[in-house]
Amino acid sequence: MDKDQHIDALKACISDVTLDMDPHKMRQMGYQVIDTIVDHISGLNERSPANFADPPTMKALLDEPMPEQPQTMEALLDTFKERVYPYAIHPDHPRFFGYFPCSGSIVGILADALASGTNFFAGHWYAAAGPSQVELVVLDWFKTMLGYPSEAGGLLVSGGSMANLTALTAARHNKLGERFDDGVLYFSEQSHASIDRAARVIGFRQDQIRYITVDETYRLDMNTLKQAVEADRKAGLRPFCVVANAGSTNTGAVDPIFDLAAFSMEQNLWLHVDAAYGGFSMLSDRGRHLLRGIDEADSITLDPHKWLYVPFEAGSLLCKDRKSLERTFTMHPEYLQDIDRDDNLVNFCDHGIQLTRSFRALKIWMTLKHY
Ligand SMILES: Cc1ncc(COP(=O)(O)O)c(C=O)c1O
Repeated sequence: MDKDQHIDALKACISDVTLDMDPHKMRQMGYQVIDTIVDHISGLNERSPANFADPPTMKALLDEPMPEQPQTMEALLDTFKERVYPYAIHPDHPRFFGYFPCSGSIVGILADALASGTNFFAGHWYAAAGPSQVELVVLDWFKTMLGYPSEAGGLLVSGGSMANLTALTAARHNKLGERFDDGVLYFSEQSHASIDRAARVIGFRQDQIRYITVDETYRLDMNTLKQAVEADRKAGLRPFCVVANAGSTNTGAVDPIFDLAAFSMEQNLWLHVDAAYGGFSMLSDRGRHLLRGIDEADSITLDPHKWLYVPFEAGSLLCKDRKSLERTFTMHPEYLQDIDRDDNLVNFCDHGIQLTRSFRALKIWMTLKHY
């Protein structure tokens, strides 16, 4: 092979692996995907809401070595429809009553595709002024709903579990500092397991957690909490945080948030409200009454992928003191030294754990604006 032939052979190889595609073909693929989504939504009623399969069945249907040959979108969608799609529960099914309502509306679904298709990097302002501002607007709507001050901080995350983890990390950092082996955390025995998991992930031992008993309506018992905090202080420990349920997972119970806020203030405890389940009831008079005092919390978890009909994944954490998030999470790696740290703008990578972040706000923003 002479030099020119060699270069031609190399070029052929490269053009074989290019990701570029003719716009017409891209559109055709897109239409096939949207048809699949619309068939799913409009045909749900004729299907079963829950379809289980055991691991051997799924392995037999899907196991294969990493592919070496390309497949068309038609072939991929056929495999998806025959071997993946039939084997799952459908939380968006009209007869699915297993968990909380979590059907993504079509506007949210399309917005998610738009966010993925434009692939914005929503980690910091410099990279994404537009997406960052949309996220700020969405967070402002949530703050208004909760009665939170406009200068409060926050961010969108994958869901309630990540919001709870982010909140407890901020609580630990701001109330206990770097040494926290004498810190104690309090929450009701009805709290969601993600609180327990967050405590474990951020380094608390079991003996640093107090599971507070509940009354006959499954609400955290204030007297038991007060006694536990007092006993811990007497023992030389450092109580630092209490978590309240605004809608517990098992029964929807709402802890006495108003009393917890007063007690937390008096005891210098960080009050986190897990409102993943019940937070959006604040849009109703009844909800506002039940959740009164929530505006006093240091941080609040919300889950737009539950009551707001936004497709997974969409969670949110609000934090009354924006600086407490920045103190906890800001890092200064060399390669990000050019990021503007101006106080007047928000870099969401400084508010939580993720650096590379998708444009989650778009699906919430478009859903709320459309409906
Ligand atoms: C009260 C509560 N907190 C947290 C979570 C965890 O949320 P996610 O599943 O979005 O991580 C749930 C989920 O059901 C919940 O009900």
